[in-house]
Amino acid sequence: MKLVDEIERLKAKKNAVILAHNYQRAEVQDVADFVGDSLELARRAAETDADVIVFCGVDFMAETAAVLNPDKKVLIPDIGAVCPMAQMLLTATLKEARAEHPDAAVVLYINTLAESKALADCVCTSANAPAVVNAMDAETVIFGPDANLAYYVRRRSPKRIVTVPEHGLCPTHHQISLEDVEAARRQHSRAKLVVHPECVPEVQDAADHIASTSGMVRFCKQDEATEYLIGTEVGLLHRLKKEAPGKCFHAVSETAICPQMKMHTLSKVLRALEREKPVVVVQKEIAEAARNAVERMLQVGK
Ligand code: 13P
Ligand code: SF4
Repeated sequence: MKLVDEIERLKAKKNAVILAHNYQRAEVQDVADFVGDSLELARRAAETDADVIVFCGVDFMAETAAVLNPDKKVLIPDIGAVCPMAQMLLTATLKEARAEHPDAAVVLYINTLAESKALADCVCTSANAPAVVNAMDAETVIFGPDANLAYYVRRRSPKRIVTVPEHGLCPTHHQISLEDVEAARRQHSRAKLVVHPECVPEVQDAADHIASTSGMVRFCKQDEATEYLIGTEVGLLHRLKKEAPGKCFHAVSETAICPQMKMHTLSKVLRALEREKPVVVVQKEIAEAARNAVERMLQVGK
């Protein structure tokens, strides 16, 4: 039997749902019940009535699904799918920042481990970071771990933003340079530049539009232009080409590949469904504290 047919059969038998991030391999996106950005995936995970969630994304996303669903089984096809940015924020650094700024609110990017989220007042994603920061009842906001997302927020908020750690970043986005943008523009002079807020400030400043991964898709579909330079992980091009077939998309950098996102394959999805493991487990006390911070985010903009 074909891999996809077997996945479909087991999914129905076990009342499972497959959630996939926009950077997943094309064939994994195509077998998923839902493909989206971090905010959409968190919302889907909060709403699902499936018994089993197969999460095709990185660790912090699957952990968020587990935190929101303590009674469900959350599977991650490859436990090696660990986001390096989420590892950059240590709880000790966060505690130090809290002690140094006792009146500040703590807003953490969803790209953090559950143990860090447990110490936060609220979580945010690239889709709602300025709105979440501006909703805090404090003049100073401790924000981390992405310094590039912090730059994006600072330009959209009157709050004082203190970053923790000082220079957290996504290696995949950080390598997309202004030189890459200029070279792409020389080749495709009529194309609009659409980028993710994890890109460096110079790339953000050059962009026609900055948004979360799904926000980038929505913009390109609604906008009147027909050609775009895409400044994010190359996996997003699959959705863009599928959902806007009449338009033309070029990656600003063909080497912007997140190796951790690409770890999940169809055979690993099938194996996870068959064996019902690896299971994502978050310790109860950590999960309860982290859930408050995630649920507070889900209320913003509702
Ligand atoms: P989005 O929430 O915009 O999909 O971004 C997630 C991510 O990890 C970007 O690198
Ligand atoms: Fe983490 Fe960057 Fe990969 Fe997103 S693209 S999962 S932030 S390493």
